[in-house]
Amino acid sequence: MQITITQADQLKSKPDDAKLGFGTLFTDHMFNMDYHPDKGWHNPRIEPYTPIAMDPATMVLHYGQGIFEGLKAYRTGSGKIQLFRPGNNFKRLNRSARMLCIPELDETFALDALKALLVIEKDWVPRAPQTSLYIRPTIIATDPFLGVRASYTYRYFIILSPVGAYYAEGFNPVKIWVTQDHVRAVSGGVGEAKTIGNYAASLLAAEKAQQQGYTQVLWLDGIERKFVEEVGSMNIFIVIDDELISPALSGSILPGITRDSVISLAKMWNIKVSERKISIDEVIDAHGSGKLQEIFGSGTAAVISPVGELKYGHQVITIGDGQAGPLANKFFKALIDIQYGNSQDPMGWIEPVA
Ligand code: COI
Repeated sequence: MQITITQADQLKSKPDDAKLGFGTLFTDHMFNMDYHPDKGWHNPRIEPYTPIAMDPATMVLHYGQGIFEGLKAYRTGSGKIQLFRPGNNFKRLNRSARMLCIPELDETFALDALKALLVIEKDWVPRAPQTSLYIRPTIIATDPFLGVRASYTYRYFIILSPVGAYYAEGFNPVKIWVTQDHVRAVSGGVGEAKTIGNYAASLLAAEKAQQQGYTQVLWLDGIERKFVEEVGSMNIFIVIDDELISPALSGSILPGITRDSVISLAKMWNIKVSERKISIDEVIDAHGSGKLQEIFGSGTAAVISPVGELKYGHQVITIGDGQAGPLANKFFKALIDIQYGNSQDPMGWIEPVA
């Protein structure tokens, strides 16, 4: 498929790289493509970034049939632009698509289209340390119809946003509230899909966390409310007695690409790593016996985010000395060194763009 390119008449002024937050600024162009049952995915185009006009009955607005991805483009010290494991994002997008009855994309074409957009927007990839261009590929249901069924038509779009750290804390430890009142997802549901409704379902608990001075929510499993699942915008790792533990993907946990990268690096470094069920009681008990060494989150937006404090019921526990632990530091450095091209890429994770 040939991608049509329409250049913006006027380019926006670029932000100050040193002052970037997360997700507030968008570049000059976006990628769009439509789906119709008679034509399949068609009309791929790069166009000026612009609002999407929608019929008020558009299905995504009513029934949440929408999915997305999050990945980043990084600028290396020599000025090159590169991606980190983008093929995994398109695989996961298609997995989410199957779960939400959305037609799949051709993964090779999707990556080529993203690269074509990035070549046009390459000046938007920031230069300041630990900044990047966040990429948000999204598919939405576009039939104007109020009956409940899968839409027949869809829009796929990609928008780009120059970003700094996701959390105001940066790499400093975040405080996490373990909710016992709310659940995010259950096995058999859509918890492992990156679908928009999962994020809507997380908002009330997130607000309750913030009201108590906590940055994010740690979700327990939806059935027994006992086993650790994930945090609002990242997967979770817990270090007990030199064992690096991540909750096993149970069907209700998002299969994070950064999570998978941490596990692969841990195996390469001969760190004892387990994907298994871990109850919140095991975490609290390990803290009591002095065996809880570290907790940290992983995600594209969050990278590696140390957890300094957990609140569970009336118990408040400080993790380690409340600072980033040695493993959080080691994974953070290894990942950003690969992503920004400061070290070898032993796993073949880097995809050059320009
Ligand atoms: C990401 O890490 O890319 C995410 O999608 C998390 C969040 C910003 C929704």
